[in-house]
Amino acid sequence: MISAEQIATRVKELGDLISRDYKDGSVVLVCVLKGSFIFAADLARHITVPTRIDFLGTRSYGEGTETSGVVQITQDLSKPIVNEAVLLIEDIVDTGLTIAHLIDLLRTRGPRSVKVASLLHKPARARVQVQVDYLGFTIEDKFVVGYGLDFGERYRNLPYIGVVERD
Ligand code: IMP
Repeated sequence: MISAEQIATRVKELGDLISRDYKDGSVVLVCVLKGSFIFAADLARHITVPTRIDFLGTRSYGEGTETSGVVQITQDLSKPIVNEAVLLIEDIVDTGLTIAHLIDLLRTRGPRSVKVASLLHKPARARVQVQVDYLGFTIEDKFVVGYGLDFGERYRNLPYIGVVERD
């Protein structure tokens, strides 16, 4: 669906935008595990302002392709984020339930701001409205894998975004 070259071009554009918007300060990049580890790694290398990187482990799906609607935190941040500008880095906003939950959670911890960067957005499946401040690509309602995204823990290492065919 999206080639490695298209991804690389867009990720650089997002990095440039983020660097411009945070140019007067620093930003804590929160990589939402596991799906955004590759996007976060590439995006971070295009961000020129001072950053700290932290990781938040979540699980919202079982082994299949349907969200359970329940967001489980499997690994918390390693440091407080009081007075910090926080940028949540997500692989995909699908129903929006995961990112909405994470925004609410982090806002309880006194950050100066919380913004969202997501590589992909599937608006057709939205169950809650979420503002994605830095969006890579809007995609149609297909289950996708690669560049960090999985299907039953497989295909995360594909360098491009591909579609899982289902009959
Ligand atoms: P949401 O809570 O429904 O927005 O789903 C968010 C999480 O579900 C993402 O961070 C992904 O880990 C996973 N997810 C949603 N859609 C897909 C997909 O098409 N492929 C792989 N994972 C997906």
